[in-house]
Amino acid sequence: MAVRAGTKALDARTLRADFPIFEQLIHGRPLAYLDSANSSQKPRQVLDAMTEFYSTSYANVHRAVHVLGERATAGLEGAREKVRAFLNAPDVREIVFVRNATEALNLVAYSWGGNNLGPGDAVVVTELEHHSNFVPWQYIARRNGAEFTMLPLDENGDVDLSGLDEIARNFNVKVVATNLVSNSLGTIHDVGPLVRWAHEQGAIFVCDAAQAAPHLTVDVQALDCDFLAISGHKMCGPSGIGALWGRAELLESMEPFLLGGHMINSVRYEKTTWGELPHKFEAGTSPIAEAYGLGVAIDYLRGVGLDAIEAHEHELAAYALGRLSEVPGITLYGPPAERRAGVVSFNMDGIHPHDVAQILDMQGVAIRAGHHCCQPLMHKLGVAATNRASFYLYTVQEEIDQLVDGLHAVKKVFA
Ligand SMILES: Cc1ncc(COP(=O)(O)O)c(C=O)c1O
Repeated sequence: MAVRAGTKALDARTLRADFPIFEQLIHGRPLAYLDSANSSQKPRQVLDAMTEFYSTSYANVHRAVHVLGERATAGLEGAREKVRAFLNAPDVREIVFVRNATEALNLVAYSWGGNNLGPGDAVVVTELEHHSNFVPWQYIARRNGAEFTMLPLDENGDVDLSGLDEIARNFNVKVVATNLVSNSLGTIHDVGPLVRWAHEQGAIFVCDAAQAAPHLTVDVQALDCDFLAISGHKMCGPSGIGALWGRAELLESMEPFLLGGHMINSVRYEKTTWGELPHKFEAGTSPIAEAYGLGVAIDYLRGVGLDAIEAHEHELAAYALGRLSEVPGITLYGPPAERRAGVVSFNMDGIHPHDVAQILDMQGVAIRAGHHCCQPLMHKLGVAATNRASFYLYTVQEEIDQLVDGLHAVKKVFA
């Protein structure tokens, strides 16, 4: 996932003009939006396209024979094809629309894990997982009498793979699940060794790409994973839409996750049969305009270039780590800039992260404070919470300067 040489740099200042959210002042100050890992802002291209879609082409999909139904269906299915191309998936039938990455991961945990895990089996996750790729596996593994195992982080904050042999000796490993980019530390994982190990065990590899897909090229064939989850709202798309990619043969072998309209082939009193992929996993009315909006967001990201976005974030992360380290009493967490996406977590000595974030808000600086849905990691770091500043394609260095100035103001309040 290295940035290719010769990548054309993006111009964040120009791109920023696409995002109407920056046209306002917050508490009388320019907005420094440093919370994109939580949710990204939306460009006018996505907002306008969704308004246009609702204004001219909206109806329910698949089941209508009228013009609007056909337009809406074309919009939804066109977006599915864009997600397929974005992830380099072999087959568009393998793209299942869901609400978000959390739902995608639950779908796999319930439909695959629920029917394939039992006593003697193991699910392996890492200490760096978001709760969305931790809790569903912990729940399903234990419900089915299987082992739930967490690979710890080593002293460098990398996933410690030294215990893999022992896990393989003791259990029949069925699932290995990990993220590609950590939302709390920004760590970019080289998951290759873990994917190979999972497949040597005959296990499936489940990839949480919620934090990777917005920031770098994600290629399901190059990763050689079996399932992969993304969320639209983190990648310039609307909320309420995400996607699960899964290998067709696995999806075909699985039971449905949600049941009802749209996902069936035939319904009789005696027996119901399931629809074809991907509809078997898309019960009920789809998030139609949201899927359409995600497709437009993908066009936007590809237009900017994922390599350029990744390079921009490395640059911002390096700048932020340098500037933040000038602030007295700060502790910075996570790897060096070249191994992280645009995420910097930190704590200020003796000042609760929520107090830091609240005072920063008064300066127009939006950051996240909390456990970032990573309580096992917080436990490892020995803290209840951290502050987190996160960057995206529209982030400019002045916002990081505004953050640093704000932190000096926080220090004064608590002096
Ligand atoms: C790494 C990671 N995985 C999963 C999720 C869950 O995403 P969503 O809340 O969109 O389902 C997040 C959200 O922060 C995340 O950062």
